[in-house]
Amino acid sequence: MERTLILFKPDAIQRRLAGTLLTRLENKGLKLVGMKMLRVTKELSARHYAEHVSKPFYPLLEEFITSGPVIAVVAEGPQAVAVVRGIMGPTNGAQAPPGTIRGDFGLSRQMNLMHGSDSVEAAKREIEVYFRPEELVGYETTLSGWVCAADEAK
Ligand code: RTP
Ligand code: MG
Repeated sequence: MERTLILFKPDAIQRRLAGTLLTRLENKGLKLVGMKMLRVTKELSARHYAEHVSKPFYPLLEEFITSGPVIAVVAEGPQAVAVVRGIMGPTNGAQAPPGTIRGDFGLSRQMNLMHGSDSVEAAKREIEVYFRPEELVGYETTLSGWVCAADEAK
């Protein structure tokens, strides 16, 4: 079963949207298997956003992501990476369609509320950046049989 790394960014915490965003993930049928609040340091930011460190916008991204606490979540489900990218919407909230998190709650390119891994490989790497293996909790839910068919649960 696929897993993805999600961050509720500092703007989401400051705007008290954490519960709303978590509800969107749960309502979709994703299973939460890891969650913690933390403050992203400059070092952690550089590890997470390694692909962006040399880009011109990185200093502003670093300033933003280290500006307040975040909540890191690992969610599990069929095609979890693509499903969460879809729930989240495109980078810029001003262009993100209604119905997506960025489309419904934001209008900024930088302050876009939530991070979601953009590939299965990135998810594996990012989960290891934020969580030790023992911090992830595998379990069965009694609802799982009503969320998807057995042949989809892989
Ligand atoms: P994320 O990685 O946070 O889930 O966002 P994303 O995939 O939609 O966007 P990405 O291209 O990976 O960019 C990472 C974050 O950097 C900020 N950004 N600023 N000023 C700019 O041109 C610019 N471009 C991106 C955004 O906060 C974006 O979420
Ligand atoms: Mg990205």
